[in-house]
Amino acid sequence: MEKAKVLIVGSGVAGAVRHLPFFKNHPEVELVGMIDPDLARARRVADENGIPGAYPSLEEGLRRSGARIVSICTPPQTHKDLTIYAFEHGADVLLEKPFAVTLDEARGIVAVQQRTGRKLSVVHQNKFMAGIMRMTDIVRRGEAGRVLHVGLTWMTNGDQDRMVIDPNFWCHKIPGGRWAESLPHQLYIAYALAGEMRLLSVAARKTTDKWPWMSADEVDVVLESKEGYVNIRMSANPAETKRRINVLHGTKASYMFSYKTAFALAERPNAKISVELFRRWLGARLSAKPRQAAPPSPHEYVINHFLDYVLHDGPNPTSPEEALHVEELNEHFGAAFESVIRKAPGG
Ligand SMILES: NC(=O)c1ccc[n+]([C@@H]2O[C@H](COP(=O)([O-])OP(=O)(O)OC[C@H]3O[C@@H](n4cnc5c(N)ncnc54)[C@H](O)[C@@H]3O)[C@@H](O)[C@H]2O)c1
Repeated sequence: MEKAKVLIVGSGVAGAVRHLPFFKNHPEVELVGMIDPDLARARRVADENGIPGAYPSLEEGLRRSGARIVSICTPPQTHKDLTIYAFEHGADVLLEKPFAVTLDEARGIVAVQQRTGRKLSVVHQNKFMAGIMRMTDIVRRGEAGRVLHVGLTWMTNGDQDRMVIDPNFWCHKIPGGRWAESLPHQLYIAYALAGEMRLLSVAARKTTDKWPWMSADEVDVVLESKEGYVNIRMSANPAETKRRINVLHGTKASYMFSYKTAFALAERPNAKISVELFRRWLGARLSAKPRQAAPPSPHEYVINHFLDYVLHDGPNPTSPEEALHVEELNEHFGAAFESVIRKAPGG
């Protein structure tokens, strides 16, 4: 049987590094082309990876290759037009986050998706990291009790962050800048743990002159869920490349978790609590099913599940409803961030 043909749109980091290997190695599809207006870049990536086609536009790629699956890995300013074009020309779409620049654009994408009956999934990959899946399972099983507070930390060493150090990087042109580029990750993790949220406040400040094109290098976001609060802290100033250390407080227990692990904490361990926590830990270890383990790359997980959704009607790894909610919160964040910054002394 002929394999389904796939095009990757955008031959930058997301397209060439995060998506390419998993589409290329998937047994049921054929990666037929890379697309980029920087045709030399698309051609180089295609040649280095044995991909037959390189095209300067989605229009030309679809016309010449006959592909019916498109993976969009371009800046969010281009997402709406590219996704709608793909739907209108019979293709299903895996779309990188952020969904779009505005909620209106994202709604426009979903409207065309529904009219054309095509399939859409937005890349929310970190919810499939082992530690996040474990924390989500704990919450779903009711072990944490009511989720009172989720605290997420997303920190990046600015000097080593390609988006922070490049004044011309596209992320500095969207509302919320570098932070709105990354915040969807924290929002969909919070959504998996706490459900729907609304934005309460954003605080942001500038503590260094190193990156004059960034209006803030420290950001604090507070959201309210039905049952509690979510706090997201972001910074460009940690010493190490990345820091992702999170906490969840429920009525029954508190947990620390990262992308890799999740474990219960007791403030003042006593014998009763310790035995209970040990029992829960052991129960989780013994009941853990190997097939639930996430692969080392969460993009691999998302791409495999997206293809299962498209080719075999499997479940969508990220529903349009989840993606719209995250986009709505990200839009509110961008607006709040820009207004906080305008009010800052000297800003
Ligand atoms: N999920 C993740 O962990 C993750 C990681 C990195 C990037 N991303 C997302 O992926 C997207 C791309 O980011 P990136 O880091 O690869 O950016 P990048 O700047 O490295 O690459 C983007 C590429 O898209 C190309 N491009 C621009 N307009 C185009 C168009 N109309 N058609 C085809 N190609 C076009 C550019 O020339 C460039 O080569 C963004 O939405 C970003 O937020 C997600």
